[in-house]
Amino acid sequence: MAYLLGLDISTTGAKALLIDERGTVIGSRTTPQPISTPRPLWSEQNPADWWEGIAASIRAVLEATGVSGSAIRAVGLTGQMHGLVLLDADGNVLRPSILWNDQRTQAQCDEITQRVGFERLIKLTGNRALTGFTAPKILWVRENEPETYSLASHILLPKDYIRLMLTGEYAMDMAEASGTLLLDVANRRWSSEVVDALDIPSAWLPQLCEGTDVTGTVTPEAAALTGLAAGTPVVGGGGDQAAGAVGVGAIDPGVISLVVGTSGVVFAPLSAYSYEPQGRLHAFCHSVPGRWHFMGVTLSAAGSLQWYHDTLANDISFDDLLAPAADIPPGSDGLLFLPYLSGERTPHPDPLARGAFVGLTTRHTRAHLTRAVLEGVAFSLRDCFGLMENANLPADLQVRVSGGGAKSPIWRQILADVLGSTLVTTNSTEGAAYGAALLAAVGAGIYPDVATAAATAIKTGDAVSPGANSPDYSGIYANYRALYPALKEIFTRL
Ligand code: XUL
Repeated sequence: MAYLLGLDISTTGAKALLIDERGTVIGSRTTPQPISTPRPLWSEQNPADWWEGIAASIRAVLEATGVSGSAIRAVGLTGQMHGLVLLDADGNVLRPSILWNDQRTQAQCDEITQRVGFERLIKLTGNRALTGFTAPKILWVRENEPETYSLASHILLPKDYIRLMLTGEYAMDMAEASGTLLLDVANRRWSSEVVDALDIPSAWLPQLCEGTDVTGTVTPEAAALTGLAAGTPVVGGGGDQAAGAVGVGAIDPGVISLVVGTSGVVFAPLSAYSYEPQGRLHAFCHSVPGRWHFMGVTLSAAGSLQWYHDTLANDISFDDLLAPAADIPPGSDGLLFLPYLSGERTPHPDPLARGAFVGLTTRHTRAHLTRAVLEGVAFSLRDCFGLMENANLPADLQVRVSGGGAKSPIWRQILADVLGSTLVTTNSTEGAAYGAALLAAVGAGIYPDVATAAATAIKTGDAVSPGANSPDYSGIYANYRALYPALKEIFTRL
């Protein structure tokens, strides 16, 4: 039996997932990762912690399962996207990584838009300049830490730093490179136009690869630290959203991945490059060769429920909090919730957007507030689907739902009712690491392509369809849609 290893450098943990060649999960270990917010709006991690953490997780999963390093045919990489890792000519890390959820770069985003032009930037890169993306962080270091900048020779993203430590190679897959704002997404190559306009040395950019390409092999030094065998191939992999989509089988147009995690993501594969003219959806390369995707992101999805629970109901379990919400009518008796607790990306790219309960009366109970939170997140995800309606997606869509929030049957039903779509679960619960392991299986030649690997490993499970409440949601959603424009100005002043 051959085995594959998926490595995921998420914001909270460094995870090593071992599967066999048929896709069965053999074992998994995660080493928690510290995060640092040294100033307001900042969010950083030390790449050395990722490497130490992932090496510990690899050793632990091999030891726990008794699988020897030499039985692993290939390693696939995934992780949090957009984080800037700046290195000198010898590959030494120059400063802590500036992460995807860091918000310090609004001035640099404005500068990028001005240098490249709003429409040109979106056409070339598929995206508008967002504070979380990588390019504005490079400019921030240039403007605020010129000494560090003067020492730089390479830029990488979090999982690609792990690739460097495993193989000694500087490489980045197309899906991750799309989130730098420096990729010509249609042509799957660095955009010399954007790179030159921003005056970033093109020699700093790593080699581009597809998610299934072998990018190098494990060095003897890395083998000694991790328990892997020297010479084991390491494939391109993909950012957490693209690899997560592979992990639920969202590969070809027609299968949409809906993730209700801390953030909520609607991920729609495309067979050709397309972009939303206002850049309200992300348009990225998929980690599957020859595929692109649209992505809508609700920054606080299950994160909204987590905040609500921790702040207003931390004396009871999530199950006990959610159960009474099932008896509240759709629309929570005139109570609406805006989930913009961490600002928003889709459909309002606005870091200053805020959360809100609107319509409170003395009649409202905790169960009403709970239902309003679940509904508000569902409305925000409906906004993402709405923006995709002009994108020529196939009429016959299957929506595959995953993530912690989707485990709640009450929330799944509200989502199906609000979206007006049947939601299907899958057998894969290991998220992005599972997709990375499947990409490794293709890179190792076990499967001819990603679609075949996914068809072998991934099975669909329970389905929930829109029910009797579904029609009621049209009018309620219209009220929800009117709230952000009405409150935008006050959010900015707040
Ligand atoms: C995607 C994104 C997040 C991060 C962290 O654009 O910002 O998915 O990758 O999970």
